[in-house]
Amino acid sequence: MPEAPKVPAQYHCAMVTGATSGIGKAVVLALRDAGLQVIAVGRSPTALAELASKQGVEVVQADVRDTEAFAAVLARYPVDVLVNNAGVLSTRAAFQEMAPSEIDNMFDINLKAPLHLTRQVVPRMIARGYGHLFFIGSSAGRAPHPGAAVYGASKAGISLFCDALRCDLLGSGVRVTEIAPGRVQTQLYKTAMGMQAAGAELYDGYESIMPEDIATLLLAALSLPQQVDVSRLEVFPTAQAVGGGRMVKTCV
Ligand SMILES: NC(=O)c1ccc[n+]([C@@H]2O[C@H](COP(=O)([O-])OP(=O)(O)OC[C@H]3O[C@@H](n4cnc5c(N)ncnc54)[C@H](OP(=O)(O)O)[C@@H]3O)[C@@H](O)[C@H]2O)c1
Repeated sequence: MPEAPKVPAQYHCAMVTGATSGIGKAVVLALRDAGLQVIAVGRSPTALAELASKQGVEVVQADVRDTEAFAAVLARYPVDVLVNNAGVLSTRAAFQEMAPSEIDNMFDINLKAPLHLTRQVVPRMIARGYGHLFFIGSSAGRAPHPGAAVYGASKAGISLFCDALRCDLLGSGVRVTEIAPGRVQTQLYKTAMGMQAAGAELYDGYESIMPEDIATLLLAALSLPQQVDVSRLEVFPTAQAVGGGRMVKTCV
């Protein structure tokens, strides 16, 4: 077995949002196994209770939109590593058919919440002279996908935010990494289409990326020497490519 990469010694405490399933849960366990104390943020009491039973994991039950809820937690824990992972794809409807409330829902959770949490965390990282901010973006934020106009726009916002944030943080010692995956086998489509349909349409017969693969990538970026900042990791299943276009004839 190859040895797991070693996280630089100054990183002690990580906070992970959307920790109750998929990528977030895998990241919590990988960081915990790497020796960090991990604050796992999520909503599902059952999933949080399971995580709480693991040594080195503290759980916080909170909705990421509830900015106020984090002040007390952050006062208690010096967060060196923040993983902004919680996200939703609440509908796959075409933009012209989606409920207007879905626009706010996806923007509030996927874009606004990570920005607000980062705003709360980053001053103390700057004061310490180091820190690592991770954002889970998406291939849908880097190329168009049908039925993902709003989801994609929220993730494109994350992507440009990461680039601009790196400019603002230059010289602070705080690293910023966006991880933009293609299809990962998780519960992401549970609301938009139900897990049975998601299995049949998206996962069965395909070899997707698994959440643990994303955790491995994140740990690799975190483990590089402090002077190395992996700004963006785009990762696809070997069996997935994005591109091409569609045209329809004008009806006269
Ligand atoms: N799966 C993919 O193919 C894929 C590809 C590219 C990017 N991503 C991104 O990867 C990230 C993780 O998603 P996943 O694929 O691991 O899906 P997942 O299994 O559905 O996990 C999403 C996590 O986010 C949490 N969450 C959602 N809304 C929340 C809120 N308001 N407050 C707190 N937690 C909230 C969920 O908790 P609840 O169960 O409480 O809702 C869940 O723990 C997302 O940002 C997603 O956009 C996924």
